Amino acid sequence: MSNAPDDLAEFVAAIERIGELVRITQPVRTHLEMAEIADRVMKLPGGGPALLFEHPILANGQRSTHPVAINLYGSMRRMCLSLGVASLDEISGRIAELMDLKVPEGFFGKLSMLPRLAEVVKFPPKLRSGTPACQKIVLKGDDVDLDTIPFLQTWPGDGGRYITLPMVITKDPKRGVRNVGMYRVQVQGKRELAMHWQRHKTGAAHWREMAERGEKMPVVIALGGDPASIYSGSAPLPPAIDEFLFAGFLRRKPVELAKAVTCDLEVPADADIVLEGYIDPAEALVSEGPFGDHTGFYSLADFYPRMHVTAVTMRSREAIYPATLVGPPPMEDFYLGHATERVFLPLLKLTVPEIVDYHMPSYGIFHNLVFVSIDKQYPGQAYKVMHALWGQGLMSLAKVLVILDKDVNVRNADEAWWVALNNIDPERDTTFTKGPVDVLDHASQHFSFGTKMGIDATRKWPEEGFTREWPDRIVMDADTKARIDALWPSLGITWKAP
Ligand SMILES: Cc1cc2nc3c(=O)[nH]c(=O)nc-3n(C[C@H](O)[C@H](O)[C@H](O)COP(=O)(O)O)c2cc1C
Repeated sequence: MSNAPDDLAEFVAAIERIGELVRITQPVRTHLEMAEIADRVMKLPGGGPALLFEHPILANGQRSTHPVAINLYGSMRRMCLSLGVASLDEISGRIAELMDLKVPEGFFGKLSMLPRLAEVVKFPPKLRSGTPACQKIVLKGDDVDLDTIPFLQTWPGDGGRYITLPMVITKDPKRGVRNVGMYRVQVQGKRELAMHWQRHKTGAAHWREMAERGEKMPVVIALGGDPASIYSGSAPLPPAIDEFLFAGFLRRKPVELAKAVTCDLEVPADADIVLEGYIDPAEALVSEGPFGDHTGFYSLADFYPRMHVTAVTMRSREAIYPATLVGPPPMEDFYLGHATERVFLPLLKLTVPEIVDYHMPSYGIFHNLVFVSIDKQYPGQAYKVMHALWGQGLMSLAKVLVILDKDVNVRNADEAWWVALNNIDPERDTTFTKGPVDVLDHASQHFSFGTKMGIDATRKWPEEGFTREWPDRIVMDADTKARIDALWPSLGITWKAP
């Protein structure tokens, strides 16, 4: 049984039922105003409510028929709701079970493995016949006018309007594997877009392959649809895994697809708005940006491929347009990233088994800072873990890794820093290395290539050259705690922060 919503309207209704939606009935401009409201909301404790702007005012001053939804994923509860789970640990538990492939004893033990293995193949995407919901309205050629969709300009120094919560669908021309990536896209005309897939991402790899072949590349941008699929576009899956298969696994229900009307790709049948088109790798790149980014700084303008839009299809003229706002953290993307952190823990453990837990605090904007706790069993193991992580997918872009012992709760960043700063001798316990860094890193010596720092904040062993005595952490004994627990209510100690 799956509880995951099938489309955006269902997701919005579910959010409203749990009391986490605010409908904004006043007209609000897509130019900066929505972002300012969303920023104030996203900074509220726990992430603030989701917002549905019912009367967006377009850049040209006209009213849009499409409501704008923002901050849909921006709380722990809504992140779980989007995937149909009560806690993200449910998903990591299912993945951990899948990874546990030791062959059980006996016939019945072996038989018990079957349902587990069936989990993986049960939910591949399905092609739906007939006219899908997302193609109730089809606009082609000159009828396409991107100016009628309420795309936001989010910060004053931005280069224009951007699509911020898309599923960008492409196909690997060699292997035929689909990719769905969440990349921002700049609106550059009534039928032109600029595609900001960074060089380390799968969409960019497909584009390089198409350029090598000298072929035009079909591209689809799907907006809305089932929220597990939207989330999956942001998840750092290996290129060989189709995000719609992963979304099906997450929501325990296949993602339904339909053929695009003007290009050779499939689109999510329940998407709200779909932009179909192509990129011609032979065309000159276009200037994209600047953009107020999730680093909290503007990313500078750079050159990216132009996408030509050949069709816009939608559920209706009132189809919801989903957006997000990035900027100084914390923002909605923290919750998307946090889901990835939890869901991918068992996969990280598969290749780096000494990892106990890890955490990316919001101010570290994912790639700047990762705390990792390990079950240290031999000298130098912290360095082994650092280098293993710098060799894994997008973790390779991590700028600062802090490795701690397993008794540190790395999900509490204050605790992690407190222990780390106590445990290190800075010169002895840091290591620097070189490698690819995030395209958004504005401080690296070269664009997308720079240095990283690893901090070994584990307790040092004599075999690591540390011969002094290492002190214990201070903890009150359990008996005293129990006695004071019993006494506490009668002590009359009340204190509210001033
Ligand atoms: C809100 C949001 C916006 C993002 N914008 C971009 C972007 O503009 N370009 C990019 O390359 N990655 C962007 N990302 C990160 C990618 O979605 C992420 O790295 C994903 O794993 C890429 O998928 P891929 O490995 O299939 O390319 C964004 C993520 C989020 C949550």
